[in-house]
Amino acid sequence: MELNNTSAVVTGGASGLGEATARALAERGVKVVLADLNDEAGAAIAKELGGAYVHCDVTNTDEVIAALEAAKAMAPLWSAVNCAGIGWATRTIGKDGEYASAHDLDIYRKVIEINLIGTFNVCRLAATAMSHNTPDVDGMRGALLNTASVAAEDGQIGQAAYSSSKGGVVGLTLPLARDIAPIGVRANCILPGLIDTPIYGAGPASDEFKARLGAGVLFPKRLGFAREFASLAVELLSNSYMNAESVRIDAGIRMQPK
Ligand SMILES: NC(=O)c1ccc[n+]([C@@H]2O[C@H](COP(=O)([O-])OP(=O)(O)OC[C@H]3O[C@@H](n4cnc5c(N)ncnc54)[C@H](O)[C@@H]3O)[C@@H](O)[C@H]2O)c1
Repeated sequence: MELNNTSAVVTGGASGLGEATARALAERGVKVVLADLNDEAGAAIAKELGGAYVHCDVTNTDEVIAALEAAKAMAPLWSAVNCAGIGWATRTIGKDGEYASAHDLDIYRKVIEINLIGTFNVCRLAATAMSHNTPDVDGMRGALLNTASVAAEDGQIGQAAYSSSKGGVVGLTLPLARDIAPIGVRANCILPGLIDTPIYGAGPASDEFKARLGAGVLFPKRLGFAREFASLAVELLSNSYMNAESVRIDAGIRMQPK
């Protein structure tokens, strides 16, 4: 699938995996809209890449449509990448046996709302926008890429909400791809392992934490680089024969209970 002279929306594009993917797409001649909540970083990166920034909460339909329309205004929209997401760690039960200390249901709902419902919101609207594209030789009109996590498969202690949300994203991949095949749009999903991004914080304590995390990786024994994720993301978007697949990029790690 040709990316040059097309446009893309990248949610979570103001940081980490989304930012790296936006940069990789821009290098391939894509006009990128960064759809994020971080206005300062988003606007600065968009300017650097010759793209656009749209303040967009992925759970807000009007804001997602505004991001898609901003992309369409620059070039035909052929790619949508979901990288917006939040992490959370809380055990399902408290230590005192009281109902009140069980996992906060509002936190559970919030993680599902952003990571899963937000992802689906972007997919359903982006595919609708892509359905108007003039198809290529394969009858193709675009591609979606979602970001789950290895926590979808090996969720750790405290990851009930996060793993549920990411398991939902993996489960979405096949029926989504089947739903949108008739309009010539593909959908794939990446399950990242431990990739070095701002979610792990910054400074000496964070460096020490990341070094400990890296020691648990099979090989190579380090955190992944965001550009390694981005390289796979661009491949899944541009390779016309990749569809309905969920791919781990994790250097062989299998997460332990904690
Ligand atoms: N870094 C890792 O090791 C890792 C591993 C597995 C999965 N992931 C997943 O990859 C995705 C990106 O993670 P990252 O490491 O780049 O994190 P990050 O914190 O660096 O970036 C996430 C971005 O999403 C944005 N965002 C949060 N909520 C949003 C919302 N409601 N609407 C729009 N934007 C929103 C944030 O402002 C931020 O810019 C997340 O879904 C995360 O769960 C990351």
